[in-house]
Formats: sequence, C-alpha cells, structure tokens
Amino acid sequence: MSKNINYTKRESWGSSFGFIMAAAGSAVGLGNIWKFPYVAGESGGAVFLFIYLICALLLGFTVMLCEHALGRNSQQDAVGTFKKIAPGKKWWLVGAIGVLASFIILSFYSVVAGWTLAYIFKSVIGSLAGLQLTEYSGFFSNFISNPVEPIIWQSIFMIITVIIVVAGVQSGIEKWSKVLMPALFAILLLIIVRSLTLEGSMEGVKFFLSPDFSKINSTVVLSALGQAFFSLSLGVGAMITYGSYLNKRSNIPSAAFMIIALGILVAVLAGLAIFPAVFATGMSPSGGPGLIFMVLPAVFSKMPFGHFFEIIFFILLSIAALTSAISLLEVLVAFIKDQLKWTRKKAAIISGVLAFIWGIPSSLSQGIWSEFLFKLPGQKPKVFFDLMDFFASNILMPIGGICVCIFTAYIWKTNNAITELSNNGKYRYSWLPLWGFLVKYIAPIVIFLVLLQGLGILKS
Ligand code: PFF
Repeated sequence: MSKNINYTKRESWGSSFGFIMAAAGSAVGLGNIWKFPYVAGESGGAVFLFIYLICALLLGFTVMLCEHALGRNSQQDAVGTFKKIAPGKKWWLVGAIGVLASFIILSFYSVVAGWTLAYIFKSVIGSLAGLQLTEYSGFFSNFISNPVEPIIWQSIFMIITVIIVVAGVQSGIEKWSKVLMPALFAILLLIIVRSLTLEGSMEGVKFFLSPDFSKINSTVVLSALGQAFFSLSLGVGAMITYGSYLNKRSNIPSAAFMIIALGILVAVLAGLAIFPAVFATGMSPSGGPGLIFMVLPAVFSKMPFGHFFEIIFFILLSIAALTSAISLLEVLVAFIKDQLKWTRKKAAIISGVLAFIWGIPSSLSQGIWSEFLFKLPGQKPKVFFDLMDFFASNILMPIGGICVCIFTAYIWKTNNAITELSNNGKYRYSWLPLWGFLVKYIAPIVIFLVLLQGLGILKS
C-alpha cells in the first residue's frame, strides 16, 4: 500500500549552496534574460535599474523571507503549509492559488523553452546561417506558427524537466542546479567579453544604462515591481516549496539575500551581454521574443565567431528556462506527494503530461489558432498564450503575494515568523522588526497596486 510513503523521511537539501543554486535557478529565467534588459533600456536605463533594485531588495526580499519561513516551519508543500499553520481554516486556498499559477506558468513557459531548445538545434545544424537580415523574423514566425514542430520541442523540454524532478530534491533538482547555474554564469561572462570587445559596443551600454529620469512615472515603477515579483518566482508557492526542504539550522535571510542578488546580477549581466552586441552590429533593439529569436541571430551572423556564440547563447537560455521550469513542476509534485500521497515519479509524470497538454493551445495560438481571441473587460483581445500569461502573472501571482503577506503578518504573526527566520534567536538581525513592519503594512498595499495596474485599472 502507499501508506509506507507517510513514514519515509521528507526530502531535504544537501547543503545551503545547493539550496541557493536551486532557488536562484528558479528565479533566473527567461524573465531575467529577455524581459528585464529590454524593459530597462526602454524605461530609463540606470534609473530603472535602481528602482528595480529597490523593489527587489525591499519588496522581493520581504516576500521571499515570508515564503521561505512558512515553508521551513511547516515542512509541507504550498497547500499543506497553510493547512498546518492555520488548521481548519480556508487559508490553504492561498496555496491552491499558487499551485494553479505554477501549473499555468509551466504550461506556457515550456512552449517558449521549447523554442530555445529548437534554436540550439537549428544553430548547430546551421539553419540560422546565411539568412538575410530581414529573413530572421520570417524564419521565427514560420517556426512558431507551425502546428507540429514547436510542440515536439515543448515535449522534449517537458521530458527533461520531468526526468530531473523524478530524481528527487537532492539527486535531481539540487545536483543539476549545482552544475547548471555555474555553467549559466560562465556562458554569460563569455558572451559579455565577446560583446563588449566589439567595436561600437559602448552605444549598447549607453542604451541599457544611461539614466533618464524623464521616463520614470508610476506605471514604470509598478511594472518594475511586477517584473521583480515574476523574476523572483514569488507568489506561486515555489519559494514555500523550496523552503520546506530546508533544515532547521540553515540561515534563511542570508540565503534569500544571495538568491535575490544572483537574480539581479544575471539580469544586469544579460543586458551587458545583449545590447553591446546589438548596437555594435548596427541593429536596433526590440522587445520580448523578437529580441532573442529575431534580432540576436542576425547579430550573431555578423560577428566574428558568431556561430559559436549563437549556440552557447541558446544553451544559456535553455538552462535558465530549465531550472525555472523545474521549480514550477516541483510545486505541483510536492503538492500531489504531500496531499494525495502519490509517489514522486507518478506525481511528476502526470503533472508534466497535464501541463504539456495545457500548453498545446498556447503553442497553437502562435499560428493556426491565432484568430481565437479572448476578450476580457478593459483588456486588449488576447490569444490563448497571452491570456494564460495575463491570468497567472497579472492576477494569480499578485493575489498569491498579497495573501502570503497577510497570512504571515496577521494569522501566523510576524513574531513567529521572526523566530523562524532567526533560528529561535540564534541570528539576531537588527532589521527583522523592520521586515515585520514591511510585511504588515507596506508589502500588501504595494502589491495590491501592482495588481490594479496589471488589471489595467490603475493608469498613470
Ligand atoms: N522567475 C522566472 C523567470 O524570471 O523567468 C519565472 C518563474 C519561475 C516564475 C518559477 C515563477 C516560478 F515559480
């Protein structure tokens, strides 16, 4: 019978380093590499960076500490955490929102991750070589609108994610994160060196970092907050789940600080890898998928050793996507394992298959289903992919974040959380009361504003 699973010891991280690599792997993803640099360049450069830094350090750090403390205290999945700390109440629904958000994000994230895998393959076999500059966008549109090929790559990506998660917390997630994250850094540094040594690269640094105060308004500040939230994997139960594998001796504040610092560092380094090369080759930057899949291949085709750098760039993106997808799948697996007492293997395979199937319409909405538009009040009509992104990132994530703060502050109580974060008074950080204040009064209100802006209710 499955009963014996109840008596097996809960899995845990082998070391703090392993935990930091896994959690930083969750944070560092497609969001940091293609979204952040472009938004920063467009929205005030260094000023945006500074605002982002404050958002990540004040708000991101605050919420991350809540999630890690909740998870470690309960030693449970996202839903079980709320059930254990507030038994008999409906607060477990907050965990359920996180599980739903993780499922949805995993479904469309794996579509884009599949594109990155496909582009490694296409670079290796040389299909991106020899195109005219204007042909890259057509090549990309043809690829993503194909009804079959992207779905095959999406399935390959999902299979890799499932295999790593099936292997477990220590021998799967931690082991791979400890290899993949340093590899990601090494590749990023290599690309930066290449990019900055190209003639004319300083124009790109200027685009990315020149401070421009005139671009700053409340919308930019709130979008920096939203971006920090998505980019730090908050509000979906991922950090609760990863926190639940921490032992009682680990120092949560210092680990959380490292995770945030690594997330910010990669975002900045990604900007320094991308824009100098874009400008040095006389191209102009664009946002989102266009930048990675249309502009960059053209940039690589024009630079010395470009083919090599093209391949490793798409490997970098795939690694970033993989470590993030692992954490999303782990939220589902921990939930199913802890609540339904299934084995890890069965939980991982079934959730992976379901998230893959739910991702298929997102993939098709780039091509044959692009005319199926969903109209929401006050919103532009959206294809399925954008609908899922909007629902998870603009609605579920901020709601999850607000509820996590309210729960920590008013149900669990900040004093209990501080006891957890200080390991029963062992680490007496003098700023912990300030953290308590932020959780109680500031973070829920600020995230609420992000929610309103995300819904289009708040306009500057
Ligand atoms: N932080 C990831 C990124 O910036 O791409 C996205 C993400 C991963 C969000 C894991 C949420 C999550 F649980």
